[in-house]
Amino acid sequence: MTSTTTTTMKALRQHRQYEPLVVEEVAIPTAEPGSAVLEVLAAGVISYTRDVYDGTRKYPYVTPLTTGSSAIGRIHAVGPDSTKLQKGQLVLFDITVRSRDDSSHVFLSAIISGFTEGSRKLMQHWADGTYAEYVKAPLENVFALDEARLMGELGYKIPDLLSMTRLLVPWGGLIDINLAPGETVVVAPATGSFGTGAVQLALAMGARVIAMGRNARVLAQLREKFSEQYPADRLLTVPITGNLEEEMTALKAAAGTRPIDAFYDISPDAATNATYFKAAIMSLRHSGRISLMGGQRSEDVKIPYHRVMHWNLQLKGKWMYEREDVPKFLRLVEAGNLSLGGRAGAAAVKEFSLEQWKEAFDYASEHASDGQGTCLVPAKA
Ligand SMILES: NC(=O)c1ccc[n+]([C@@H]2O[C@H](COP(=O)([O-])OP(=O)(O)OC[C@H]3O[C@@H](n4cnc5c(N)ncnc54)[C@H](OP(=O)(O)O)[C@@H]3O)[C@@H](O)[C@H]2O)c1
Repeated sequence: MTSTTTTTMKALRQHRQYEPLVVEEVAIPTAEPGSAVLEVLAAGVISYTRDVYDGTRKYPYVTPLTTGSSAIGRIHAVGPDSTKLQKGQLVLFDITVRSRDDSSHVFLSAIISGFTEGSRKLMQHWADGTYAEYVKAPLENVFALDEARLMGELGYKIPDLLSMTRLLVPWGGLIDINLAPGETVVVAPATGSFGTGAVQLALAMGARVIAMGRNARVLAQLREKFSEQYPADRLLTVPITGNLEEEMTALKAAAGTRPIDAFYDISPDAATNATYFKAAIMSLRHSGRISLMGGQRSEDVKIPYHRVMHWNLQLKGKWMYEREDVPKFLRLVEAGNLSLGGRAGAAAVKEFSLEQWKEAFDYASEHASDGQGTCLVPAKA
């Protein structure tokens, strides 16, 4: 539904970096070769969306732009070179945009311009995101969803489907280190937005999870939430105490007679050089794997080098996921192996209109650890 005419739409814009956002009437984009225009049904708001646009995180991005994040939408129009996507299809829009002639240039739509000259150039061309009634997206970032299966047979609502965009992040790291069914993975910290997502995903992938966190309440909530779906020994919790010896002893006790195969790190910048990081690495079996997906900005994070070398540990960094990872992830959801929304014990996603963007950003920041999603619904009055 457009707001006034069929040629204009509402969009949540920012004219200069870190200045307040404003809802404006702008032209609906048109589909050109290589693109699709989507009607945005629900766009994700993450725990630090506010920090991106108010400059707290100092993310580089181009302005003016329409703000946004990954979203669920319906195809409004496709460019003339589209061979599969069709008007009316329900789709997931992934914000990870890669250069078509050199995929090492990557940026996140409407969030960060990436770290290369090419990615910055690319963002100039694709500046506008999903906090609008319509968005123009690169064709390769639009993934068709099996609507009959997801919304019919599995009974999901649009906001449930949006939670896939959060779970895709840990998916990128966990499949990058080849997490296998029956293996044991430490997730730390496991109490934030992507950490709780990693726990849910690793369980669905068939792994045993040791969730580390400072917040005992959230750790208990995680055990409770998954207790109906999985036996108690599939999800163990270990407190982050700030004492290396204590944390290593607790990890050993949690693992019992089985080895710890992998460590999924999703540390925020505030946790740089925290004890749990070393404790988890030191607790890995020989040839264990580590996925580094955290937001630590320092180039000087301490690594227990001696241990990494002698134990043949593999350290892999991962920004988001690869394009080919997305259809694999969708298969997991469509097969019913990974549950979403209420089926996964999650509270209903909180919905806000574009005009309520401030409330939405605050809400997302305050509810990161209880696993409750937040979204903007541009058509909402
Ligand atoms: N690689 C990628 O592609 C990618 C994608 C998305 C996000 N990220 C990064 O992932 C990080 C986490 O994002 P998020 O949205 O999950 O953040 P979040 O919801 O704010 O969660 C942060 C988590 O870190 C914990 N924590 C904070 N300070 C800590 C400390 N000093 N010691 C131990 N634990 C601490 C919090 O625990 P408490 O509950 O105890 O405070 C919470 O569990 C971000 O920094 C982001 O930049 C990376």
